[in-house]
Amino acid sequence: MNTRRIACLLALTSLAALTGGSIPAAPLTPVALRCEYLIDPAGIDETAPRLSWQVASKQRDERQTAWQVLVAGSETALAHDNGDLWDSGKVAGDDTTAIVYGGRALTSTQVCHWKARVWDRDGTASDWSEPAMWSMGLLDQKDWRGKWIGYDKMRQAETNTAPLADAKHKPTFLPPPSCLRTEFNVTNKVQRAVLYGTALGLADFHLNGRLVSEDRFTPGWTDYAKRVHYRAYDVTQLLREGRNALAAVLADGWYSGYVAWGKTRDRYGKEPRLRVQLQIDYADGSHDIIASGPDWKASTGPITSADFQMGESYDARLAQKWTEPGFDDGQWDAVATGAEMAPVLQAHPGPPVRVFAELKPKSITKVGPGAYVFDMGQNFAGVARLKIKGEPGRKITLRFAERLKPDGGIYTTNLRNAMATDTYICRGKGTEIWEPRFTFHGYQYVEVSGLKKRPSTETITGLALSSATTDAGQFECSDAMLNQLAKNTYWTQQANFIDVPTDCPQRDERLGWMGDAQVYVRTATLHEDVEAFFTKWLVDVEDAQRQDGEYPKMAPVIKGENDGGPAWADAGVICPWTVYEAYGDTRVLEKHYASMARFIDFCKNRSAPGFLPPKEFHCYGDWLNINDDTPKTVVCTAYFAHSAKLMARIASALGRTNDAVMYNDLFEKIKAAFNRAYVGADGRIQGDSQTDYVLALSFDLLDPDRRQQAARLLVEKIENRGWHLSTGFVGTKSLMPALAGIGRNDVAWRLIHNDTFPSWGFSIRQGATSIWERWDGWTPEKGFQDPKMNSFAHYSFGAVYQWMVENIGGIQSDGLAYKHIRIAPQPDDKLTFADTRYDSIHGPIETHWRKSGRHFKLQVTIPANTTATVVMPAVDVSTVLESGRPVGKAPGVKALRWPRALATFEVGSGTYDFETK
Ligand code: BGC
Repeated sequence: MNTRRIACLLALTSLAALTGGSIPAAPLTPVALRCEYLIDPAGIDETAPRLSWQVASKQRDERQTAWQVLVAGSETALAHDNGDLWDSGKVAGDDTTAIVYGGRALTSTQVCHWKARVWDRDGTASDWSEPAMWSMGLLDQKDWRGKWIGYDKMRQAETNTAPLADAKHKPTFLPPPSCLRTEFNVTNKVQRAVLYGTALGLADFHLNGRLVSEDRFTPGWTDYAKRVHYRAYDVTQLLREGRNALAAVLADGWYSGYVAWGKTRDRYGKEPRLRVQLQIDYADGSHDIIASGPDWKASTGPITSADFQMGESYDARLAQKWTEPGFDDGQWDAVATGAEMAPVLQAHPGPPVRVFAELKPKSITKVGPGAYVFDMGQNFAGVARLKIKGEPGRKITLRFAERLKPDGGIYTTNLRNAMATDTYICRGKGTEIWEPRFTFHGYQYVEVSGLKKRPSTETITGLALSSATTDAGQFECSDAMLNQLAKNTYWTQQANFIDVPTDCPQRDERLGWMGDAQVYVRTATLHEDVEAFFTKWLVDVEDAQRQDGEYPKMAPVIKGENDGGPAWADAGVICPWTVYEAYGDTRVLEKHYASMARFIDFCKNRSAPGFLPPKEFHCYGDWLNINDDTPKTVVCTAYFAHSAKLMARIASALGRTNDAVMYNDLFEKIKAAFNRAYVGADGRIQGDSQTDYVLALSFDLLDPDRRQQAARLLVEKIENRGWHLSTGFVGTKSLMPALAGIGRNDVAWRLIHNDTFPSWGFSIRQGATSIWERWDGWTPEKGFQDPKMNSFAHYSFGAVYQWMVENIGGIQSDGLAYKHIRIAPQPDDKLTFADTRYDSIHGPIETHWRKSGRHFKLQVTIPANTTATVVMPAVDVSTVLESGRPVGKAPGVKALRWPRALATFEVGSGTYDFETK
């Protein structure tokens, strides 16, 4: 939660205290102001940025009737209510998101301070919100004065310079990261200093001995030949009068390190580069730019190797104060200049990668002389911080794994070529603390060797890394297994949202697989606010689109992998649509509309006459199903239909009515072809797999009669497997929602309570703390699955969390982006309570229900400016109370209906305590 939001909540609480608990009709208050769906972003290059806020009120049934935004060029102007950049005036309406800045043209490096006020349902104006801000980046490529610089001396010989020599097929080449530096004088009083930095590689920037930010892996992963992102950091506080040092460490990362399988490095280039400039505004109105260029000096430092897959090595004996002013770099080399490619430089539109949690070891086990295995209690992605005392030259080796072998040693075979090994050589002076900066591992267990004595739980701290998205969900119920399942999906998401949504964080893969992303994206929105994260990745997707319109297997794309095929390529349409559905801003659709249209054309052109698949095409099918294949032709036709239907919806959302008609017509034709080609008179679909029926039901491919048959057949297929699922990635995404959709949540409950193979509960019974790639990643009978493909942190099967939030918590969006909400928990007999929270774009939605016998209590919180339909089991109206009074008399509760023993209320915003006797 940001500080502004906390401040506002505190204000409401203290108001309650002052009035002795009875809160007066509090006005509607604008809170949680964001720009481009980020809090106070620095250095954006969107010239028409989108502003948003939430409105909060303690009063029921509140809504916004008008708003006003002021944007000013200085804090003082804003404090005087002078919107010298933009004064929107009072605008009637309840919009709180996607408010497009409409003021004076914004220029490079400009700082914008802003605030909002709103009018409530009675037309009463709020106070102005707390101020927020954003700053502009470098809008024109010509604004870049910093030149590409690097250091290639250690990169020429492809020999193994690092301590990791156990290469499998190819020699391992692990050059040390470069250290680059310059010094400069500051003689005037500094008013503001901003550092703009990017890299073909990964860069850490230091100013006067301090890292300029906690961000990692700057500038993230893009198709570097096309674009590279930069970040802006306000470093005013780090500058000092007199001599200053600007320094950077430059590592391979995605640009030239090992990426994907086959022990392959240098996928983009061989010579990492960085570009940086420090813009200083002095109080006297003058400016200065300290920029990377040929005058910088280069060398190597204590980091002797750094690679995502292989790990990082550090020799503390080589550490020097080279990032500080006054260091003698007389012996250092000149930097290399120029770069292998000339990408466009753009501001990073998403959150940076940061440490989001620190984990303490749960146990330490001795596994050999000086070697111990630490169990961190959780499978996650990140690094380990080492705290150690040792004589000079003592070498500590850390190896990482997700699972243990039966003998208690770490199991690393499933990491394939990823060595996942960090080493630290002691300097030998007192306690030494080290954490790597340019690698990460997917792990629960760390084997630490080279220790002189038994370590303590202080020796290792797990640092969990992820893109810094804001937590948006919470789930807890009376079933510990379901709580673990929710937790496993959360941790697996965090482990895989590292600048791009990846398949896994541990083996030599870690790619932005499209199929996995489309399967999981809706669930992702329920755990984290991923709007800006996907804004970034969807550009990678478009960058990776093939000339003929086909989307790739993964984005950024790996050479030769540009034919995604059905259900993978379709992420190019499904993900923008899902982001729009969750957050309600059309810009993501507008931005990628032409690209999505090209994809639909590709699908049409690829088809045989009659909209059916061609003879040959690439398709992964229902990946990792359990002996229940779905014909690839069925997957292909179903997804073609689905994407066409989504395109029709996208076109209507954008007001492109003719296109909407055209895409709807296309959908109907594909649907007809699907039925003719694959559906028998008895409703059986070719292949007769669970996924067949899931796809047909959830993509609306059947007419009502056949729909009923498919519903019956789906349940029959599940029953035939002893009430077990057999679906792979493609089917599992929609299996549970499809069951809910046909009114068979009773079957969904059976599946989610299962703990026998295959089920979610099965992995949890084996101690899983994350979602496994395969249902049978490890079984008591067979042990580990094929190590060639056996990750224990793949999120696809975790898509079930969406069903949990929507059916156990009962929180659903009814229409677009939770503006109208449907609250309909559907408890089964095994659960006695559930507490669910989802922080929607309009604010927190909560349900808390308790059940004992026929007594049902439901507390619901609906954000201001939204409305909800609440559905709960109740025999008749006289049995339902709200806050102790008859529900008909409760303020905020509107229409009442009683269909099929379900009490149905329309409510305005606020918190309601419903209860049935
Ligand atoms: C990845 C996946 C991906 C798949 C394609 C695997 O190697 O880990 O998650 O979707 O290949 O079928």
